[in-house]
Amino acid sequence: MDQADNLRLRIVARTPAPAPAAEPTREALRVIAVTSGKGGVGKTNVSANLAALAARAGKRVLIIDADLGLANVDIIFGIKPMRHIGDLLQPGVSANDVLAQAAPNIHILPAGSGVQRLTELDRKDKLRLVAALDTLEERFDLVIIDSGAGIGDNVLFFVGVAQEVVLVLSPEPTSLVDAYAVVKVLSQQAGIRNFAVVINPVVDEMPARDMFQKLSTVTGRFLTAKLRHLGYVPRDENVHRAVMAQRPVVDLFPMAPASRALAAVAERLFSEPAPQILEGGMKVMWQRLMREAEGPR
Ligand SMILES: Nc1ncnc2c1ncn2[C@@H]1O[C@H](COP(=O)(O)OP(=O)(O)O)[C@@H](O)[C@H]1O
Ligand SMILES: [Mg+2]
Repeated sequence: MDQADNLRLRIVARTPAPAPAAEPTREALRVIAVTSGKGGVGKTNVSANLAALAARAGKRVLIIDADLGLANVDIIFGIKPMRHIGDLLQPGVSANDVLAQAAPNIHILPAGSGVQRLTELDRKDKLRLVAALDTLEERFDLVIIDSGAGIGDNVLFFVGVAQEVVLVLSPEPTSLVDAYAVVKVLSQQAGIRNFAVVINPVVDEMPARDMFQKLSTVTGRFLTAKLRHLGYVPRDENVHRAVMAQRPVVDLFPMAPASRALAAVAERLFSEPAPQILEGGMKVMWQRLMREAEGPR
């Protein structure tokens, strides 16, 4: 069994739901990673706005900020988290202390700079971390991981635990090769099969459409990965204005072209159930993260 099989061990194919039991069961946890081939294509904006839209629909959202880039999720929500995931190893620090509330239904778990340390932990510390994070299980319906760009260890580390990957693609010819490389590595090394593509920022739809077609054709031919198209987000000055105002654009300018497009993207993404069920919920997710941290890839 290779590493990808191992990773996927606890993820089972979706089967028809059994007849509802008397006890109401809560909706399964959904884990989505947002990634891209290149940096600066709008991952953080897509993550923050998907979170804002899901929260508006009543979902309790956890954003894991795993991007080491400059414009992080906390900036878009205008908050300044003081701690990161690695601080959970200090005595007396609980998951609650590390989470930062960004909006009524949105919390951020800053992970980026803490991740480096996770790879150096011993088994006892990892178990402690899993136990601390496990207390979050009941608090969230949706986890959005704002990952870094490219195919580095940090990206593989986080994206490997997601059921579904949102791939942000910029409509420039050069981004096609980078995007293909990401799909290739994530499908072959992290066992990710389902990619939902958002093209951003779009000035002209024709080349963007063409780009999705090309990517879809080559991945279909050479890789065991399925791509679905979530939509185009137009280049829109309001995105920049919203970043400056430290609010998600869908909240600040709900009628702006980019906001409408993001709402359509969210609608398409969330209207379909997760392609796979994450058995064991968040606990398994953390365990997998820790297992990933165990050795060099
Ligand atoms: N649709 C868009 N229209 C205009 N500017 C955008 C759009 N999407 C992103 N941007 C801008 O591009 C920059 C990078 O976005 P960001 O979400 O931080 O990318 P990443 O997380 O991939 O590095 C930001 O300054 C943001 O304001
Ligand atoms: Mg970013």
